[in-house]
Amino acid sequence: MLCMYVIEKSIEQDLSIESFNKRKVNLFIKRDDLIDLEVSGNKWRKLKYNIAHVQQKKLKGILTFGGAFSNHLLATAAACNKYNLKSVGIVRGEELNENSNSVLKRCSELGMNLNFVSREIYSLRNDYDFKNELKSLHTQMHVVPEGGANYLGMIGCQEILSECKINYDHVFVALGTGTTAAGMAFSLSSNTKLHIVSALKGIDIIQTLSTLFKSFGFGNSEINDWLECVVPHENSHVGGYGKTSVELLEKIIAFEQFTGIEIDPIYTGKVWMALEDWIEKENITNKNVLFVHTGGVCGGRQIIKDFIY
Ligand SMILES: Cc1ncc(COP(=O)(O)O)c(C=O)c1O
Repeated sequence: MLCMYVIEKSIEQDLSIESFNKRKVNLFIKRDDLIDLEVSGNKWRKLKYNIAHVQQKKLKGILTFGGAFSNHLLATAAACNKYNLKSVGIVRGEELNENSNSVLKRCSELGMNLNFVSREIYSLRNDYDFKNELKSLHTQMHVVPEGGANYLGMIGCQEILSECKINYDHVFVALGTGTTAAGMAFSLSSNTKLHIVSALKGIDIIQTLSTLFKSFGFGNSEINDWLECVVPHENSHVGGYGKTSVELLEKIIAFEQFTGIEIDPIYTGKVWMALEDWIEKENITNKNVLFVHTGGVCGGRQIIKDFIY
C-alpha cells in the first residue's frame, strides 16, 4: 500500500477577479503546486502509481530520463529518497556533471545516480533495445519515460479531476508530453470541456493525445469519446517552449498581484493567458471555470524576477 507523504488532495481555491465577477464567471484554481516543494504539481501525480508499482513488485527503484533542468528528474529523486528507493537519472548532455546546476546538485544530494550521456545516446531513450540494455545494467529498476509519460503517470493525473468537489463547465490545463491532460480527459464528466494549452510550438493537441492513448492500449472509439470534450489552444506558446513575451510576463505579474499566487512563464502562465483571452473573445458568462496549477518550472521564476527588476 502506498503511504503518502504529501497531502491527499489538493485544494480548489476560489479566485475573486473583478473582470470575471462582472461576467458571473466563478474562477477556481486547483493548487497542485502546493502538493510538495520538490515533488510539485503534476510531478507527484505522474509518479504516485509508478512508486506504488515499484513497491508492489519489490523492485529497487526508478530509472528515468531528463534534461539539465528537468523538474521530473528532481521530483523522481525526491520521491524515491522519501520512499527509500533507489533512483537513476539518465541526463542529456555528456558535458554536464552533478555540479552543473542546482537541479542536478539536488538530485545528487537526494541520492540519484546520475548518468550523463551525449544527445545522440539520449535520443534513443524510447528505443526498445536501448531500454533493455539499461535494464540489464541497472537491474530491478522500473524504467519511467521522460516527463513521467507512461500509463501509470496518466492514471495518477486522472485524480486531478476525480477529487474535485465542483462540477466545472470548463477546465484549463497545460500540455507538454500530454500525460497530465490525457489523465484529465480520461476522468472528465460529459458536460465539462477540457481546454488544453500547449507550451510548445507546432503541436497538434488532438493528435498528441490520440497517439498517447493508443500507446497506452486504448481503442479508437473510447479515444474519440474522450477527445470530443477537448478544446485545443495551440497558439498560446508565444514562440515555443521556454520562449516568452512582454504580454505574457505582464499577464503573469497582474495575475500574481490579484491573487498572490505565483505562476511560471513556461507552462501555467501560458494557460492563464489563454484562459483570460478565451473568456474575453468568447464573451463567456455564468460559468464555473477551473484553472489547474500544475506547479512551477525551475528557472521560470527567474524570468519573472529579471523582468520586474
Ligand atoms: C508545471 C508544468 N505544467 C504542465 C506540464 C505538462 O505536463 P505533461 O508533460 O504531462 O503534459 C509540465 C511538464 O511536466 C510542468 O512542469
